[in-house]
Amino acid sequence: MTYRIAVLPGDYAGPEVTAEAVKVLRTLQEVSSLRFDLQEGLIGGAAVDATGDPLPAATLQLCQASDAVLLGAVGGPRWDGLPAAQRPEQGLLRLRRALDLYANLRPAKVYEPLVAASTLRPEVVRGIDLLVVRELVGGIYYGEPRGIERLAEGERAINTMVYTTAEIRRVAHLAFTLARQRRHKVTSVDKANVLEVSVLWRREVTEVAGAFPDVTLEHLYVDNCAMQLVRDPRQFDVILTGNLFGDILSDEAAMLTGSIGMLPSASLGGKTGLFEPVHGSAPDIAGRGVVNPLAAIASVAMLLAYGLQEVAAAQAVEAAVARVLEEGYRTPDIMAPGCTPVSTAEMGDHVCAALRQGLATA
Ligand code: IPM
Ligand code: MG
Repeated sequence: MTYRIAVLPGDYAGPEVTAEAVKVLRTLQEVSSLRFDLQEGLIGGAAVDATGDPLPAATLQLCQASDAVLLGAVGGPRWDGLPAAQRPEQGLLRLRRALDLYANLRPAKVYEPLVAASTLRPEVVRGIDLLVVRELVGGIYYGEPRGIERLAEGERAINTMVYTTAEIRRVAHLAFTLARQRRHKVTSVDKANVLEVSVLWRREVTEVAGAFPDVTLEHLYVDNCAMQLVRDPRQFDVILTGNLFGDILSDEAAMLTGSIGMLPSASLGGKTGLFEPVHGSAPDIAGRGVVNPLAAIASVAMLLAYGLQEVAAAQAVEAAVARVLEEGYRTPDIMAPGCTPVSTAEMGDHVCAALRQGLATA
């Protein structure tokens, strides 16, 4: 069986890290029975430049016809002046909606060799292993009405935070299901002391929890959660939250681990999942061979596990990433005294070598 993978490199650092992720897929193909049909598509600024549209119809069709989508990153200063509808980010937002990717999984896990890379003390971060489950196709990102309108004096801007019962329930159900495979705890994050949307969120999540008596549910206000994440991040297992709060908290959670350059994500819901590093297009460091490709490579592991149900291959990729860190290879973002500095491409090569070795001895 050959898996069809849509590869969307995107902008700035996106193509650099995606090239390393693709190397890993090709290596897997050499050393296992897995077969991949990799088809590239345009998205984001690259697509705007080529076609005027951040999500060309051909890209959407490619994704819909694929078993999984591997994405780099979109956006950057080059396109900042464009009107809202043509911004690169719109390509990603429209793709999430079109594929109905209602759940965004962002694991934050500390690799033991990188404990010192965190800005927090080692005793606070050692052993962090949490999963943010962010609702991805609703909430204030998509709510109507929205826009900026002229007033007699000045202007007025509107966005609308909105969730339906069904939208809350489906993402909550997935979060509880995932908690069952982990440490059986869900922390639902909202602002129910102020927002009606959050009152409904809390009520529905509590309802869904009834079907998972083996999973502990707690509720936190988002401001408290932001504080608890830096105070004692190990208290968290699964954090379930809406689109905007999840955007913010997942960046915070990512940075606890020392480098946002390490963390992958999976967006699930419809038949085709999308897998991408959590870091953005990193325009400030792109193009010089210094970007960390491990988040993109770890996204390949999530693609294998969640997108294709190829769990053994996913574990082999994860083990290869852990191995290169133990061996001391470091891109600048995670560099430490005594370690070996490597470029983006060299890091990819080391992961592929570790993967070959790991699968040869398996
Ligand atoms: C993310 C990003 C996106 C988001 C942007 C690029 C639209 O920040 O994936 O977290 O806000 O969802
Ligand atoms: Mg974000």
